Amino acid sequence: MTLYRALVVDVAANPFTTDPTAALRADDDCGLLVRDGRVVARAPYADLVRDHPDEETVDLREGVLLPGFVDTHVHYPQVRAIGGLGMPLLDWLRDCALPEEARLADHAYAAVVAEEFLDGLVAAGTTTALVFGSHFADAVDTLFTAAEHRGLRITAGQVVSDRILRGELLTAPEVALSEGRKLIERWHGAGSGRLRYAVTPRFSLSASEPMLDVCAELLGLTDGAWLTSHVNENGVEVEEVRALFPDRRDYLDTYAHHGLVGPRTVLAHNVHPTDHELDVLADARAWVAHCPTSNAALGSGLFPLRRHLERGVGVALGSDVGAGTGFSLVKEGLQAYFVQQLLGPAGVPLSPVHLLHLATRAGAEALGLSDRVGDLAAGKDFDAVWLRPAAGSTLAVNVAHAKDASDLLARVFALATPADVAGVWAADRPLRASTSLASGSSGGPY
Ligand code: GUN
Ligand code: ZN
Repeated sequence: MTLYRALVVDVAANPFTTDPTAALRADDDCGLLVRDGRVVARAPYADLVRDHPDEETVDLREGVLLPGFVDTHVHYPQVRAIGGLGMPLLDWLRDCALPEEARLADHAYAAVVAEEFLDGLVAAGTTTALVFGSHFADAVDTLFTAAEHRGLRITAGQVVSDRILRGELLTAPEVALSEGRKLIERWHGAGSGRLRYAVTPRFSLSASEPMLDVCAELLGLTDGAWLTSHVNENGVEVEEVRALFPDRRDYLDTYAHHGLVGPRTVLAHNVHPTDHELDVLADARAWVAHCPTSNAALGSGLFPLRRHLERGVGVALGSDVGAGTGFSLVKEGLQAYFVQQLLGPAGVPLSPVHLLHLATRAGAEALGLSDRVGDLAAGKDFDAVWLRPAAGSTLAVNVAHAKDASDLLARVFALATPADVAGVWAADRPLRASTSLASGSSGGPY
């Protein structure tokens, strides 16, 4: 067993439905006793060390220990395509994202990109992710192999499309079915259950009705598989989908018609939904991945969070790398806050507790993993990120002057970057070298 000693901050309840102050759980000089990858006790460190004097203590009192972040929408083959600014969605896909995605046809290339991608997640403190895979089955296999090796919690699948996109990325529905089956057999439930399959039509713009039928078939034959795609991201895209599916009521209906919208569905963006679409999502208990830096970078629009919440649609955060501007869910949280501020009275004022919720607990719920991850209560996996601001940094100055845990979180969301991630663990396995683990505390927690 290992005893971790830290200021532990997490979210114990949904701050959108309960008092955010009460939802925040901040335990100064807290002990987490971890056995076989799980937190078995959470209590004042003094109590735990008294009861377990022989256990090794890992001293993380500098900075703050948070649950590992949960990214509900991130593209593996786009790690080298970040920063293509100045284009709306469809131009960006054609000129920036898809030429890079085509390169993953090469096994050796995909293997390097998979490592770069997982490095990016870990460096940002993300321990669980719903990953948009590659169009190439072999590249998806490569991703799962690399994720299993590291012990990350990844839900991912082969991206399928049979129209509109450049030729190398297209496949036939029968091929998608047989390749999907093989990947599911090999990977769904592998890695001690930390790996799962997500059926992934890219978006209905690039998927014919027979391809969407294949997606339904793959979903139907797999217990506990997920469905992920894009919806209502950009005005031109929405119009083109409408023209391609004249018999469907709206964009969401292009998926719902095939039985693809349910409690294990996560759809990215949804910047331009109708009220009816929100009602269908809520009834289905499907989730939306809000990707705020991507929405800003591509000029997709201002996310109507209030309408989602009022109609009962669950919302979590996605980095949407490579349209998003990096892997940091701290940055996504800050951008989500900015967008709601800019919406004025139509926006939802987000507190730091809301931001931590969106980056951790909400994602765990969206992925059906809230019994395992999303917070650091006893019984959960020890999936954690240790933020320790660099000495002399503006974040260090601000952390030292925070007046309480909520204020500390506000300063973290304003200032923290992957450079402040000093340690990451997945099921107690260190994912990134933690330096100075034994150093003592310097300064108070707030
Ligand atoms: N819609 C279809 N494919 C993509 C993608 O790769 N990124 C984003 N942001 N939207 C999409
Ligand atoms: Zn996306």
